[in-house]
Amino acid sequence: MSAAAASSRQPIGDPLDRVDGRLKVTGGARYAAEFPFERMAYAAVVPSAIALGRVSRVDTAAAERAPGVLAVLTSRNAPRLVQASAGGGGGGGTPEKGGEQKAKSGGQSQQSGGGSAGADPFAKPYVLQDDRVRNFGQTVALVIAESFEQARDAAALVRVDYRPERAALVMERELGRAFVPEKFLNPEVKPETKRGDFESGWSEGAVKIDATYTTPNLHNNPMEPHATTAVWNGDRVTVYDSTQNVNGTQRNVAALFGVPPDNVRVIAHFIGGGFGCKGPTWEHTIAAVMAARVVKRPVKLALPRQQMFAAVGYRPHTQQRVRLAATRAGRLTAVAHETTTATNQAHAYIESAGVATPMLYATPNLLVRHRAVPLDWPRGTIMRAPGEGAGVFPLECALDELAVALRMDPIELRRVNEPERDPQKNIPWSSRSLLKCYAQGAERFGWGKRNPEPGAMKDGRMLLGWGVATATYPTNRRPTSARVRIAPDGSALVQLAATDIGTGTYTALTQIAADALRLRPERVKVEIGDTNFPQTPGSGGSWGVASYGSAVHEACLDARGKLAGLGADESVADFLQRSRSAQPVEGHADSKPGNEKEQHSMHAFGAHFAEVRVDPDTGEVRVSRFVGAFACGRIVNAKTATSQFAGGIVMGLGMALSEESVVDPHYGNFVNADLAGYHVPVNRDVPKIDVILVEEEDKFVNPLGTKGIGEIGIVGVPAAIANAVYHATGRRVRDLPLTPDKVFA
Ligand code: MOS
Repeated sequence: MSAAAASSRQPIGDPLDRVDGRLKVTGGARYAAEFPFERMAYAAVVPSAIALGRVSRVDTAAAERAPGVLAVLTSRNAPRLVQASAGGGGGGGTPEKGGEQKAKSGGQSQQSGGGSAGADPFAKPYVLQDDRVRNFGQTVALVIAESFEQARDAAALVRVDYRPERAALVMERELGRAFVPEKFLNPEVKPETKRGDFESGWSEGAVKIDATYTTPNLHNNPMEPHATTAVWNGDRVTVYDSTQNVNGTQRNVAALFGVPPDNVRVIAHFIGGGFGCKGPTWEHTIAAVMAARVVKRPVKLALPRQQMFAAVGYRPHTQQRVRLAATRAGRLTAVAHETTTATNQAHAYIESAGVATPMLYATPNLLVRHRAVPLDWPRGTIMRAPGEGAGVFPLECALDELAVALRMDPIELRRVNEPERDPQKNIPWSSRSLLKCYAQGAERFGWGKRNPEPGAMKDGRMLLGWGVATATYPTNRRPTSARVRIAPDGSALVQLAATDIGTGTYTALTQIAADALRLRPERVKVEIGDTNFPQTPGSGGSWGVASYGSAVHEACLDARGKLAGLGADESVADFLQRSRSAQPVEGHADSKPGNEKEQHSMHAFGAHFAEVRVDPDTGEVRVSRFVGAFACGRIVNAKTATSQFAGGIVMGLGMALSEESVVDPHYGNFVNADLAGYHVPVNRDVPKIDVILVEEEDKFVNPLGTKGIGEIGIVGVPAAIANAVYHATGRRVRDLPLTPDKVFA
């Protein structure tokens, strides 16, 4: 739709085209590796070839003699970083914490420097500060050269000798060392959550399910690989970084290089996807800043796809046992969800798979537990819907198994267990429209025509299966500042640090400002991705519009308040013209949530409907139809929102059918570390995806009534597909991905 047509309507809710779309398709949008500088030098990482031990010797002579090489850094000659004690800086807008989660086998007290920093999944990367190797792929040397090719070539000439130590690389062999994690990245998650008494609820149940499900390591794999370009000017540095969190990168760079945060400017105008892996600050970013300081030239470090697998995190493997007990009428009497997940010894990122289980359904008796197994795998991190992404899969499959055992329709089973209030917190929902999502999705999908008998529906020789599952994600908001400047000509400039990781943040904020100022969207310019602008959290936790949007909204109201005589519905442009003002008007907001989460339980909900066609001879599963219905409060842009939901569904489709990162049990590396070995869905794998935006009004979540949509799309998709595969074949596969060998084992 054209901007002119859009301008005649309410800016919020309009399916406005992306305001940055033209820049992106014409190549005008600059990404971190695309800023040109005179005398640019290029850095290449030499990654560790072992999982655990020490570097005993590094021979850099051949690399130093190679053409174009400017410097080779190792822990022997690298500049010292400031190893602050825990508590400073911090990335990802996450709480800093001390030395909890001691997940170690002893003798590793200096795992990542700073003593207690080792257990922090967002710990600052003390790159090249000692000879310890904590995981495969860790930076053990850095080559800086005149060109990218020369740096890469010389990196291959660096010879590293190691003293390997026994590494824990197979989770099943290390279960005896499992520990109870005390803290999670999401502070609302507890290691154990209970209500009522599980055991008595279990014995009351007439029908029971007890099953264990597994999810593999999964990599975020954004289209744009991670990259950093660093430019020092005296003791000030500008960092062009592919990061979801410019302020987090700023704090970490400042802390590690011992300069005030104001001396560090981080720019991320455009980001080609992140999904969480661009939330933390990783080694390569600090390495690029370090290299630029050493060679006194701008330095670019672009990670090759293969190195990203070990260097920038992944969603760690889980084993999850779910037990459900219910009455013959389908009412749950007990739910248990026990997760065992892998974690890196030095950086304890814990996958909080049980996070949604306490709130999703009504049951008087519940037990949710997390345990973590310390391994020497590369460190994990957040990935789209960390927690829910892996954890709703087993819960929603187990409900399907229960529905089969009860001979009950799976949607009816969810209706029977719909809670009136948050069953764990015992407070009302700010809004909850799950059953409406199921009703509208079922109508669109044609669920009423389903024959529930497994294998009963066919299309020619193909087995047809239909499955459903619930999606959910909490509604978050973080403190955010923003400013707006309205010029005498009635155009507005909005600025805040914020990032747009491809989700449409530029466009949504344009609409929010246009709405508050009563301007046409084309009169509003939004500038983000720069620490010179007011401070914000990183983009993540689906809080972008709720946090950034609320701040922009409030900054615009602040500006309006400065215009005496401005009518409530009057455009600021009209007012300025009428008053012949020659002065710009500025507005500012430091916007933050209040105690609304204590009064209402705030979550978004959705329902997935999958149709699969299974080849009876090969076991190949194809998703042939998909409907996702989502109720996420107010939708700011129907077009970008639909894209974002569909993107989550595509990612869930990959998780269901093909994505898996395999760790070599001897060396601790990922063996399928490229896009030929790690299979993300391609066009041929993706059917038409029908997204339904279920209308929902929420008066409590934030000033805009938005719930966040970035992560919910993936949640539950693998369960809907696995449930459809059961329906097609009668075979219950509880281990992702659903590859043909498992479907017809
Ligand atoms: Mo998302 S995993 O919070 O970027």
